[in-house]
Amino acid sequence: MSEKIEALKAEISAAKAKTQDELEAYRLKFISRKSVLGDLFADIKNIAPEERKAYGQSVNEVKQLAEEKFKELIAGLESSDSGGKSSAPVDLTLPPNINLGTVHPLTYIHNRIVEIFQKIGFNVADGPEIEDDFHNFTALNFPENHPAREMQDTFFIESNPDIALRTHTSSVQIRVMENQKPPFRTLAPGRVFRNEAISARAHCFFHQVEGFFVDKNVGLVDLKQTLYYFAKELFGQDTKVRFRPSYFPFTEPSAEMDISCNICKGEGCNVCKYSGWVEILGSGMIDPNVLENCGIDSEEYTGFAFGMGIERIAMLKFQVNDLRLYSENDVRFLNQFKHLS
Ligand code: PHE
Repeated sequence: MSEKIEALKAEISAAKAKTQDELEAYRLKFISRKSVLGDLFADIKNIAPEERKAYGQSVNEVKQLAEEKFKELIAGLESSDSGGKSSAPVDLTLPPNINLGTVHPLTYIHNRIVEIFQKIGFNVADGPEIEDDFHNFTALNFPENHPAREMQDTFFIESNPDIALRTHTSSVQIRVMENQKPPFRTLAPGRVFRNEAISARAHCFFHQVEGFFVDKNVGLVDLKQTLYYFAKELFGQDTKVRFRPSYFPFTEPSAEMDISCNICKGEGCNVCKYSGWVEILGSGMIDPNVLENCGIDSEEYTGFAFGMGIERIAMLKFQVNDLRLYSENDVRFLNQFKHLS
């Protein structure tokens, strides 16, 4: 007899009810007037009189346990989302209510840039975001203690030797060139960091795409033609470009490239500050010192490099003029890019 009672206790403790039907099945078996407990109480007349008291007590224990468990099962069903209605069959013909995410606007621009350059044979390389001084500055021809290092406000992590968050993706040029043999036709997209106060126009991190092309007989004409092709692919075939002389320690000569303002088509608006032109990238012929620093013979090989900010291009494409929006994860902002893929 006591075995039967123990088995019942175990069954009650293990009982589960995920649906109303299961709850009802439990109620019928353990709580209702026709429950197994009714049978146990009825059995009392078959028990030897001196054992009846103990028997009655243990049956009562089972009853209490069954009632407590019943309350627990009800509470469990009420708190679960499916409480009450889960026994209804699922209608598989209804349209799904799935909230699909969107491509982030920066990812979209990144993918477009990579696609455009892949068409003309560029591959993609990656490099570390935490860089040493050599790859971020020295190999790129920034002389020690030269004010040029202050062009980019750096987050230093360690000193002696200096370790910093990379300030530009030009460091990947060095990493690829020192480890592989020319020719190179490489794109290096990635995140970069600068110690700037965060505002609509500046952030302490942003994204760049670096590109470089090194081979025999590469000249300024190749640089101009490649970047012209890129600008037309990204901003439309009627886009015009112009190059303005500039300075970077690692390129000589250096030039900044402007495109005709894609918003007012050159007429003049507040994006191009009524000049009709907007700057989109820095570029230049790779300084022979940089090639030599990577063990490449600068008599035999020449090359060009360029670097652009992904946020800046996204700003021009989408006319989003507050940089902070790109990293705030505000769904109201991100939902506006649902049409992109
Ligand atoms: N690294 C430069 C910057 O961050 C951009 C650049 C890259 C310029 C390659 C010329 C050549 O401003």
